Amino acid sequence: MTDATIFDQYPLDQWKDPAHRIMDRFSLAGKKGFVTGGAGGLGRNVTAAWAEAGADVAIVDLPRTKETLEPLAQELSERYGVKVVPLYCDVSDKEQVDALKTSLVDELGTVDVAFINAGVNVPGDDADEPYEVWQKTIDINLTGAYLTAQITQHIMREHGHGGSLVFTSSLSAHNANFIAGGPSPVAAYGASKAGIYEYARYLAAALAPYGIRSNAVSPGYVWSGIFEGRIVPEAHDVMTAPVPMHRFGTNEEIATAVLFLASDASSYVTGTNLQVDGGYSVY
Ligand SMILES: NC(=O)c1ccc[n+]([C@@H]2O[C@H](COP(=O)([O-])OP(=O)(O)OC[C@H]3O[C@@H](n4cnc5c(N)ncnc54)[C@H](O)[C@@H]3O)[C@@H](O)[C@H]2O)c1
Repeated sequence: MTDATIFDQYPLDQWKDPAHRIMDRFSLAGKKGFVTGGAGGLGRNVTAAWAEAGADVAIVDLPRTKETLEPLAQELSERYGVKVVPLYCDVSDKEQVDALKTSLVDELGTVDVAFINAGVNVPGDDADEPYEVWQKTIDINLTGAYLTAQITQHIMREHGHGGSLVFTSSLSAHNANFIAGGPSPVAAYGASKAGIYEYARYLAAALAPYGIRSNAVSPGYVWSGIFEGRIVPEAHDVMTAPVPMHRFGTNEEIATAVLFLASDASSYVTGTNLQVDGGYSVY
C-alpha cells in the first residue's frame, strides 16, 4: 500500500470504469454556444454539428442574412430538439457586440463554447491595396474576433465557469497562399488571420486559470460563400494543384474539427492551431 501522491489525480485507465464512454467526450449536451458568421458555409455546419451534439446555439450574423438564419434556426431546433436562435450583429461594431452579450445571456443563460468565425476576403487585397480594403479586413476579421472573444470570456468569468473559444484562422495565416505562380490576394486577410492565431494563443495562456481554453482552426480551401460567384470552375484544379489531397475541403470537414476543439474531447488542448487543409501546409 503506497501513500497517495499528487499523481493520483491522473487516472491511468479511465476506460476500465464500466460506465465510461470515450465518445461522451465529444458531446455538448447541456452546453450553450454561439457561432459568428453563422449564415456562412462554415458557420452553418458548425451550428448544425453543435446542435446535433446537444448544445443550444445562437447563430450570429449580419441582418442581411435574416432569410437564411430564421429557417435554419427553426430547422435545426426541430431536428435536434435543442434551442437554436438567430441573433443579428456586425462583429466589427463595439456597441453591437456589447448588445450581443446581453442577448446571449437573455437567450441562452450563459456561454460555454464560442466559434469566432465571421470573416471576409475583400476584393483588391493585394500588395497595392487601398487603405479601405486593409481597414475593412482588419475591422471585421481581427477587431471583430477581439470584440466577440472579450464578451465571451467575460460571460464565462462572470458566471464562474470555464469554456472553449475556437477561432477561425486560415491557411493564409501561415503562408502567402500560392496559386498559379504567385500569391493570392490575401495581404490584409493573411495578416488578420495570423493575428487571430496569435491572439488565440495569448488568450490560452491568460485564461487557463479560469478553465477557459482557446484554440484556432486553419481551414484550407473550403467550398463556401467566400468563393461562391467569385471563382470559375477551371480554378478548382489550379487551386488544388499544391494541395496534396488535390481537392477542396467540405464545410463538414471543418465542423468536425471545431466540434473536437469545442468539446471535452480536447480538454488538454489549448493555444494550438489545427490545420484542416488537405495537407497544403506541409510544403
Ligand atoms: N472557405 C474557405 O476556404 C476558408 C478558408 C480559410 C478560412 N476561412 C474563414 O472561415 C470563416 C467563414 O467563412 P466561410 O468560408 O464560411 O465564408 P462565408 O462567406 O460563407 O461566411 C462568412 C460569414 O460571415 C458573415 N460576416 C461577414 N462580415 C460580418 C460582420 N461584420 N459581422 C458578422 N458577420 C459577418 C457573412 O455574412 C457570412 O455569413 C471566415 O472567417 C473565413 O475567412 C474560410
